[in-house]
Amino acid sequence: MRKKIVAGNWKMNNDLAETQALISDLKSSVPETDVAVMIAPAFTNLYSAFQSLKDSNIEVIAQNMHQESKGAYTGEVSAAMLKSIGVKTVILGHSERREYFGETDELLAKKVDAAIANGMKVIFCFGELLEERKSDKHFEVVKTQLKDALFHLSETAWESIVLAYEPVWAIGTGETASPEQAQEIHAFVRNEIADQYDQALADNVSILYGGSVKPGNAAEIFGKPDVDGGLIGGAALNAADFTAIITAF
Ligand code: 13P
Repeated sequence: MRKKIVAGNWKMNNDLAETQALISDLKSSVPETDVAVMIAPAFTNLYSAFQSLKDSNIEVIAQNMHQESKGAYTGEVSAAMLKSIGVKTVILGHSERREYFGETDELLAKKVDAAIANGMKVIFCFGELLEERKSDKHFEVVKTQLKDALFHLSETAWESIVLAYEPVWAIGTGETASPEQAQEIHAFVRNEIADQYDQALADNVSILYGGSVKPGNAAEIFGKPDVDGGLIGGAALNAADFTAIITAF
């Protein structure tokens, strides 16, 4: 059975004091739930966040990592470093990493392999640009992203993969994919996985939606059969909004 997940991607927001304040608010507002709740603070605040939340039902996850295990890669952080402070899950392939840091599916395949080799779970982001949607290429784009970054994985490795469909035109824009648009891509992706592997494996993969999810639209999006939760940006920076999105499930 696939998991329901609501994960907050804090991006490059919140210094240490702000991180601690938001965590303190989340501790008092996030209810006991069957939804897996995760937050991804900045690297500098991961250790403190992990320490504050280690006895709670909120998992602290990372926003990125490097594909190599160690060495002369100035400014980078490895899977082993994340694991050493207790972090077990990493977001990979976010469109902002693709756009501003030139991450390709070929590179992401290596990052995914490194995470899995280190026993970590991955939230793998994919999704089309506005012009790709407008020219009706979104299915093709999404299929290529998954094929190039993930379809080399073994069936067992897929137990460590969560997918997050984040249409780039819906990120931080206030414009959400309609629940029908989300469902259409999620069902398409599940079908592609079933074709490549098998239906049982495809049915076990959680597929999250991300892009302007708010308390007011979460229930409708999460109500779709192939939407297993959300990856939340802006609304995850406010404890009341993030909690409302979790309880919308
Ligand atoms: P917003 O919720 O701010 O649109 O961001 C979505 C996102 O990029 C989550 O990773």
